[in-house]
Amino acid sequence: MSLTSPVTDATTPLFSPTLVSPEVLSELPEGYTCRPLQRADYHNGFLDVLRVLTTVGDVTEAAWNERYEWMSHRNDEYFLLCILDPSRKIVGCGALIVERKFIHNLGLVGHIEDIAVAKDQQGKKLGLRIIQALDFVAEKVGCYKSILDCSEANEGFYVKCGFKRAGLEMAHYY
Ligand code: ACO
Repeated sequence: MSLTSPVTDATTPLFSPTLVSPEVLSELPEGYTCRPLQRADYHNGFLDVLRVLTTVGDVTEAAWNERYEWMSHRNDEYFLLCILDPSRKIVGCGALIVERKFIHNLGLVGHIEDIAVAKDQQGKKLGLRIIQALDFVAEKVGCYKSILDCSEANEGFYVKCGFKRAGLEMAHYY
């Protein structure tokens, strides 16, 4: 099947909104919300928030749609969510990717990736809420643990979110 033209509706959530933690929703600042990514979020500032984290590049809407469709066919594996401010602009985002293993009785491991909060929105506990929301999804879908890589500069943030240092990352770039 060609993935170049979108098949999902622009505002269909990437995954079930029942996986969004009610506790996180109730603890967000007034007027803010948290929800699964949608295809229409190309126009809602999602990529701009990611630019706080790293290089995003020039992603055209067609390329976005193709990648979004790919993910939406794997929505028991790719859980991308975002936080929106009262004007419905995306101000924070994060991803949980669920890896299926043979070990640990066919265990599931959550990989937390691409956490970002817009510069002018940092320090309002939005980062913490994103991690809590991803933790909620991970537990609900049956992960036995979630892991992530971060810089030394962000270690304190993840400790505040309840994570502890475990092992060491190694990388081979291609
Ligand atoms: N070091 C130590 N403590 C921190 C840090 C830090 N770098 N950042 C936040 N904290 C603390 C806060 O002071 C707060 O503590 P408190 O509960 O005592 O008040 C607690 O952690 C929660 O902070 P939040 O307000 O939720 O943090 P924020 O919304 O600003 O988000 C984040 C933190 C996501 C790191 C944000 O600064 C950001 O987007 N940075 C740029 C992108 C980035 O580095 N992302 C993480 C990459 S790693 C990955 O994606 C797996």
